[in-house]
Amino acid sequence: MTTALTVRNATKIFGAQTALDHVSIDVEPGEVRALVGQNGCGKSTLIKILAGFHAPEPGTEVEVDGEVLALEDPVASEAIGLRFVHQDLGLVPNLDAVDNMALGNGYDTNGAKTIRWRKERKHAREALEALGYDIDVRRPVGELQMSERTAIAIARAMAGRGAAPKMLILDEPTANLPDAEAQRLYKLVRRVSDSGVAVLFVSHHFDEVFEMASSVTVLRDGKHIITRPVEGLTEEELIEHVVGRKMEEHNKANADAREHGPEVIVMKDVAGGSVLGMDLTVHRGEVVGVAGITGSGREVVAGLVFGGRERTGEITVDGKVLPENRPDISIERNVALVPAERHANASIMEQTLRENITIVDPGRHMTAGFLRRRPERADVKDWLGKLSVKPGETEYTMTQLSGGNQQKVVLARWLRQEPSVLVLDEPTQGVDVGAKADIHTLVDEAAAQGAAVLVCSTDHEELVRVCDRVVIMRKGRLAETLRGDEISADNITAATIGRDTSDPAA
Ligand SMILES: Nc1ncnc2c1ncn2[C@@H]1O[C@H](COP(=O)(O)OP(=O)(O)OP(=O)(O)O)[C@@H](O)[C@H]1O
Ligand SMILES: [Mg+2]
Repeated sequence: MTTALTVRNATKIFGAQTALDHVSIDVEPGEVRALVGQNGCGKSTLIKILAGFHAPEPGTEVEVDGEVLALEDPVASEAIGLRFVHQDLGLVPNLDAVDNMALGNGYDTNGAKTIRWRKERKHAREALEALGYDIDVRRPVGELQMSERTAIAIARAMAGRGAAPKMLILDEPTANLPDAEAQRLYKLVRRVSDSGVAVLFVSHHFDEVFEMASSVTVLRDGKHIITRPVEGLTEEELIEHVVGRKMEEHNKANADAREHGPEVIVMKDVAGGSVLGMDLTVHRGEVVGVAGITGSGREVVAGLVFGGRERTGEITVDGKVLPENRPDISIERNVALVPAERHANASIMEQTLRENITIVDPGRHMTAGFLRRRPERADVKDWLGKLSVKPGETEYTMTQLSGGNQQKVVLARWLRQEPSVLVLDEPTQGVDVGAKADIHTLVDEAAAQGAAVLVCSTDHEELVRVCDRVVIMRKGRLAETLRGDEISADNITAATIGRDTSDPAA
């Protein structure tokens, strides 16, 4: 049997940086391989070489099912049977599944170039059914669950032109998926691999590596560290391979001992988007988590508080009313929002890390109308260090950073403001284990310095780690509150899917 994928000596140099250093891997047909490693270790670079997007250095060789792949040619990658789902899925929210699938692959037309709609719809439906999904293919995909959107992106990839798919490659497929929906993706991947197609997926979630993968490859600093079966591997060992040292137990440092001050955020009967009505108070020095499946309201809470969304009801910060839909006033009152999907929502890709960080207060290092560059750079450098942004060069542009490092820059921007209210939406999405621990410590510190912190997250371990209290949203309302020892990942997951049948909100 030939291997599905053979990579030999994959190397890629960006300027002074070796992003990928003679990496060789083999993946067998039907194998599910996880590709893991810290932010910037070269995962996406490897995938982009396979996709024909990056030109690798000479000496790099790739074979798919025994055939040599012509490099730096996206059409050749597809024709040989490689299929990709990139992290943002690449779907257009206001188009339906049929249109989205055609967007990648072209519509089926007759000789006169009229689109055969009925056939298109049938194809889309069949492709999704083959993956175990029964989705209304005429609904705009923006109205669908994240797991359904992921299924459409995978169906589209699998239905691509060229040879039958040999390998499906997913870059952080569950970055936006709440736990319950991630379970559906696992099944979907299993179906794909059962059909003999190899799967390669990038992930920072180790529980998912253990759940989904049969084997795992670890990269560190562009180098291949180890490839081995998942069976018999412990999470601790995997983390050690990834970071290159033992990680300290991160325990809930000061959360329990923390004294909570007066009320800072008070929400009364707030409604907007999928939130039908919620009351919530967050105190000075307190970290409150918001959990819930997509559609429960969790995904819009951050925007409602910060004022980026239309809403009804009342929100006060330190006793003063925060007007609806006025993010400018929120910023004035020192309310900071770190939005989810920071790539799309918050970073200016062509600008430097320095500009991306100082954009909220460009005057901080001004004296008499002059910008004092040296102190500004030192200040920014300090923050890049705190969040272990790599490379931590103030004058690099965002485009030169890996996805996870871009996320960290946006976090640095807001943490640096020492906000009195800090609203975080999926704060460690796409961020590696090491940086995740750093970010959690910074959240602790922000609270210790008196910030009222609201963390909306689908990462339940994260909520356990940072929160003093976790509120659970179901169907647009607060359904439960977990405190102290009740806060465990299992309890949160159970509560989000609604174990309590006597629940008045259900
Ligand atoms: N277009 C580019 N120009 C310059 N350097 C780049 C470019 N793209 C990536 N790099 C660098 O190459 C290295 C590897 O980046 P890559 O995107 O492969 O990381 P990754 O493993 O996918 O990380 P993450 O988990 O953060 O997504 C990083 O150090 C990054 O800064
Ligand atoms: Mg990446």
